[in-house]
Amino acid sequence: MKLCHTIEEIRAACRDARKAGKTVGLVPTMGALHAGHASLIKAASTENSFVVVSVFVNPTQFAPTEDLSTYPRTLEADCRIAKEMGAQAVFAPSDRDMYLEGAATWVEVIGPITGILCGKSRPTHFRGVTTVVNKLFNIVQPDRAYFGQKDGQQAQIIRRMAEDLFMPLEIRIMPIVREEDGVALSSRNIYLTPGERTAALVLSKSLNNAKQLVEKGERQTAALRKAITDIIKAEPLAAIDYVELYSFPDLTELGENISGQVFIALAVRFGKTRLIDNIVVDCK
Ligand code: PAJ
Repeated sequence: MKLCHTIEEIRAACRDARKAGKTVGLVPTMGALHAGHASLIKAASTENSFVVVSVFVNPTQFAPTEDLSTYPRTLEADCRIAKEMGAQAVFAPSDRDMYLEGAATWVEVIGPITGILCGKSRPTHFRGVTTVVNKLFNIVQPDRAYFGQKDGQQAQIIRRMAEDLFMPLEIRIMPIVREEDGVALSSRNIYLTPGERTAALVLSKSLNNAKQLVEKGERQTAALRKAITDIIKAEPLAAIDYVELYSFPDLTELGENISGQVFIALAVRFGKTRLIDNIVVDCK
């Protein structure tokens, strides 16, 4: 497996792969790879003959108050995981290479899809994501790019961007990988104290409970939101950022009653750590 630090190197590697008739899969990440990322790399290796994992802690998607400087950086271990999962290259560029001096171009999806949920609490976040993902697409020119349902809103925003801008690639969205106890894997879980880690169980617990309520026939949006909120509020270490329900996959507003596929999403703080989780329920 090749580790490329410059745009020229990764471009040459992808050019050679395409010349050899290979299809290119891209897995964009910020590193600190875990089993969630690994599942994306594995899926990419199953569907493509040349897989690139990008590892770049993208500064423009962090607000000044957020954890950019402390975000875990574990490139050596990341390369091992990428290789084990079948990747042919890791692309780990510098900030300077990704954002040229004087860079002034943003790619931004505008509208409710970026204004709700995480876009509300992190107003500059998604334009940082779409801008860097666009740069990565232009550098690697993949046939397919892989994203996790863990960041369900991000995945739909990227799908919107790719469709709107006629990007010639397929966006693949893969299921959430969880720990055995239900906590969704996240690079930020390492920030949690043991007590906060136990408290974080309320996320999947409240989402699964909502799913069961829907299965039993509950259709009222407010009742479902309250059921989730009540479970989380019973945990003293948890502070709710949002608990919301939207239609899936377009993330449009629901009325008083839910119908079709529903995206139930939440963001909750445990001490300094903000975790997100979601579930999609079908109430045909
Ligand atoms: P990062 O948080 O490193 O996540 C990289 C990819 O892994 C994302 O598509 C994310 O949804 C997926 N992922 C994370 N945890 C997962 C889990 N438990 N199960 C399944 N997939 C999971 O998301 C980003 O980086 C950045 O915003 C990025 C897209 C790389 C742009 O900088």
